[in-house]
Amino acid sequence: MKVDVILGLQWGDEGKGKIVDVLAPKYPVVARFQGGPNAGHSLQFGNQKFVLHTVPSGIFHHGTKNIIGNGVVIDPLIFAKEIEGLEQLGVPATERISIAQKAHLILPSHRIIDAATEASKGKQKIGSTLKGIGPAYVDKAGRNGLRVGDILSPSFLEKYTYLKSKHLEFLQSFDYEYNIEDYEAQWFKGIENLKRFELIDGAFVVNNYLQNSKKVLAEGAQGSLLDVDFGTYPFVTSSTTICAGACTGLGIAPNKIDKVYGIFKAYCTRVGSGPFPTELQDTTGEALRSIGNEFGATTGRPRRTGWLDLVALKYSIMINGVSELVITKADVMDSFDRIKIATTYKVNGKEQSLLPYDVQDGQIEPVYREFAGWKRDLSAVVREEELPFEFMNYIRFIEKETGVPISMISLGPDRAQTIIRQV
Ligand code: GDP
Ligand code: IMO
Ligand code: MG
Repeated sequence: MKVDVILGLQWGDEGKGKIVDVLAPKYPVVARFQGGPNAGHSLQFGNQKFVLHTVPSGIFHHGTKNIIGNGVVIDPLIFAKEIEGLEQLGVPATERISIAQKAHLILPSHRIIDAATEASKGKQKIGSTLKGIGPAYVDKAGRNGLRVGDILSPSFLEKYTYLKSKHLEFLQSFDYEYNIEDYEAQWFKGIENLKRFELIDGAFVVNNYLQNSKKVLAEGAQGSLLDVDFGTYPFVTSSTTICAGACTGLGIAPNKIDKVYGIFKAYCTRVGSGPFPTELQDTTGEALRSIGNEFGATTGRPRRTGWLDLVALKYSIMINGVSELVITKADVMDSFDRIKIATTYKVNGKEQSLLPYDVQDGQIEPVYREFAGWKRDLSAVVREEELPFEFMNYIRFIEKETGVPISMISLGPDRAQTIIRQV
């Protein structure tokens, strides 16, 4: 058996949580491969809404194992709160979740370093979620990090104290006030909570599932344009959000990957700083934000909004080897008279179809193609045949431009509001 990968093609929040939840019944295993509590994955069914941060989005399905892979960074306190919420709902979390021993821990001092470095950047700040993601991955790459497996070591406290002292020393170079004690006390309770879970050697476990004919769905966090190598650097996150991250974040070989589902919104959003060529700072942008409820699932910050950008989308499809596209949130534009899609960029007056090295707002003028709106409520449509002509026209244009079929159309936050197409 092989691994199917599902990931975001824009700047995150494409609807990954919802789509993983829809697909999960087909997979005995769902595995998160990177990111940490910077992620906010929303799921909705039966009038209930859930936001997951570290826990994979297959958690609500009986019979699905949820693996937190080695590529993930875990804040034990945030994770404990998430588990508490799930257990209150009656979800048997310890039964359904296994955690890779090689996943790294986010320390309380990582959070403080994240906040101090962001504060020192002033206008250049990344707009980080301030969950300590960047500093935790820095320690991982710098070979200083603490891993989940370390919590069982008799010298864990010693290792923790050493790394914390290094962090506090580093923090002296910032003019930044902080209090670590309160968070730290709860963090250690979170460490005890982690011990309730099965801690696994993720690579062996995942490969063993595949050998035993069990299909695995690898769930990405963030989006391709936030990837540390291929995103709009430096306004990115610190992990490999693209398909290759599923290999390094779970311990699977590239030839074990089968389908790659690329999810994109019918428009674009971005939370935090950084370039966004098709951003709309007008009433249309405001309409996308208010109708689409575009406020961060993790931080509550308003998301920036703009038209769909095919230049960026094609780039993401190329880097990930996307085999099937999933479009979400087109229903948000139900009332729009006209809908635009950027097909190329004009950079310094010259038209180009490739994403430039240095994506800088102001220098890029998107070239748009306009479509007539469908002017119908799509949120209750369940059959493809019932979709309006104008909408299908829009879908077919994207398929033709990208050369990739759209196999799922999401028309609302609920798991039931999903059309699966034969492609
Ligand atoms: P993720 O991080 O990719 O899982 O996405 P988020 O959960 O952060 O953001 C997506 C938001 O859109 C959530 O509030 C979802 O409930 C909602 N959503 C997902 N798909 C659709 C859709 O097709 N239509 C509408 N209107 N909302 C959707
Ligand atoms: P999901 O999985 C949207 C953004 C932050 C910031 C930048 C770096 O829900 O799609 P970080 O905290 O990682 O150092 O922040 O990345 N960011 C996200 N934006 N969705 C996410 O996750 C994000 N995770 C990080 O806003 O601009
Ligand atoms: Mg999100």
